[in-house]
Amino acid sequence: MSKKVLVSVAWPYANGDLHVGHLAGAYLPADVFARYHRLKGNDVLMVSGSDSHGTPITVAADEEGVPPEEIFQRYHRRFLDTQEAIGISYNLFTHTDTENHRRVAQDIFTRLLEGEYLYQKRQRLLYSESENRFLPDRYVEGECPFCGYESARGDQCDNCGKLLEATELVNPRSKTDGSTPSVRETEHYFLDLPAFADALRDYLAAGKEHWRPNVVNFARNYVKGGLLGRPITRDIAWGVPVPLPGWEDKRLYVWFEAVVGYLSASIEWSNNQGRPDAWKQWWYDPEALTYYFIGKDNIPFHALIWPAELMGVKRLYESDETKCLNLPYDVPANEFMNIESRQFSKSRGWAVWLPDVLERYDPDAIRYYVAAVMPETRDSDFGWDDFVARNNNELVATWGNLANRMLGFAYQRFAGRVPEPGELRPADQGLLDRAEAAFDVVGDLLAACRFRAALAEAVGLARDANKYLDDQAPWFEIKSDRGEAAKTVYTTLRVIDSLKLLLAPFLPFSSERLHQYLGYEGQLFGELAIQTYHEANQSHGALTYDPAKATGSWEPSQLPAGQILRRPAPLFKKLDEEVVEQERQRLAG
Ligand code: MF3
Ligand code: ZN
Repeated sequence: MSKKVLVSVAWPYANGDLHVGHLAGAYLPADVFARYHRLKGNDVLMVSGSDSHGTPITVAADEEGVPPEEIFQRYHRRFLDTQEAIGISYNLFTHTDTENHRRVAQDIFTRLLEGEYLYQKRQRLLYSESENRFLPDRYVEGECPFCGYESARGDQCDNCGKLLEATELVNPRSKTDGSTPSVRETEHYFLDLPAFADALRDYLAAGKEHWRPNVVNFARNYVKGGLLGRPITRDIAWGVPVPLPGWEDKRLYVWFEAVVGYLSASIEWSNNQGRPDAWKQWWYDPEALTYYFIGKDNIPFHALIWPAELMGVKRLYESDETKCLNLPYDVPANEFMNIESRQFSKSRGWAVWLPDVLERYDPDAIRYYVAAVMPETRDSDFGWDDFVARNNNELVATWGNLANRMLGFAYQRFAGRVPEPGELRPADQGLLDRAEAAFDVVGDLLAACRFRAALAEAVGLARDANKYLDDQAPWFEIKSDRGEAAKTVYTTLRVIDSLKLLLAPFLPFSSERLHQYLGYEGQLFGELAIQTYHEANQSHGALTYDPAKATGSWEPSQLPAGQILRRPAPLFKKLDEEVVEQERQRLAG
């Protein structure tokens, strides 16, 4: 029976390019997971988009002296190109500045208000006398009241991960002109988080069974520490309007509405499909599995605030009173990826930018390395020497060479066909059995979001296949007994064909090519393309994965003897050692 799998992916702020931290933290694990489930025959809906609102966008716009629209549209466009190039197969990657999103976010607000989960309160907030405006969230910096970190932002401390109110900062200063803000009164709406404390506690207790320990512990500590009401509106002009008269000057807090994006994007996708109720299969069927791939700094929003919003709303656009919106089933948050042993820093330019590295390296080479050192349970490190070493030793020497030398050999010595093996020897059968067993082993690891282990397992099979090949040495066998060589070539091609699938979630581009070389018609995966969608009087670009042409399935190779092969070419490129120094120079410069 095919399962419904919702793959929700963190929405990047559209205020700068994507870097490997984004890829390692959320997009790559999500994509590997989605591709695996599609091969398994499950119904995957993978959604995300550009986070277009809030102070991250307006601060960037102020710095450049341009309107916020210009910033978010520029980076949204670049997100589409970058993610298409690296193969992140969203069914829909949209953005939050659409009519559809505004409507859904406002409806959520209204439902919560009706349910009395929102209340109004006067707040004393930081105000800039020099600029005559309030300074919400990222407009102020100061010392973290929890850990003492000096550059905590008004919304969150990057050092300890705690959510903050700007007024909690010690020695706050305006981000724009460094001035010390004054304090003024203003009215805001609050989400009554304490009202959900018991429900959240139960929810997290259930999650303890299958969530990553670091994620569930972080969230449970939050609840233990005592939940406070969270303000969900802001004195700012850019964002989703508050759907109430008299509130024209305020907007919904970016985090309140961005998490709604998972739902609104699912609805937008359904509308684009011409099946307006299709999203309900992932959002109302209690059997649906809903995963949220995020970086660890996003845990409070996905493990507490979004579940609380969903609990309070209960149901939306659904009259059947027995139904409830699904809470996140799992939030497999990743830790951070450092660069050359130092923390990523946008301001210091200490980053590996995806649009840049995609100009020099193949997407699968980047995906391979980032998956191999994915920060699943602790922070990890992107090192250029390690990148080159793993590319050359594992991707090229272990996997690429296995495929190359056998495809080339079969192509030349067996007239471009999969040879007829006759009866297999124990060593042949042993390797085929091992490849068959790998589908369960690797599949279970992928389903459990243990991506590094899954990749290591698949590469281990390639290593064993190389060893088998070296032992059998068909290039010698063929001189004495062509039949023996045929068994070896046949067996190895079958294993390569299996590895093509086992590695396809990680390496979709090269697996697709290999599929062709092995003589198959059709493609493993569907099409990923940038499309333009029109709404009332707006249009926007989106990335969309269309599964229609996908034929791959998560099953051991059935490669038939006699199948005609296509002329092979190397799958991967060996990298020059010089790359390491060149890239380090680039970082430093
Ligand atoms: N824009 C946020 C960030 O980059 C992530 C938002 S995820 C969503 O940290 F929940 F809002 F969708
Ligand atoms: Zn802190």
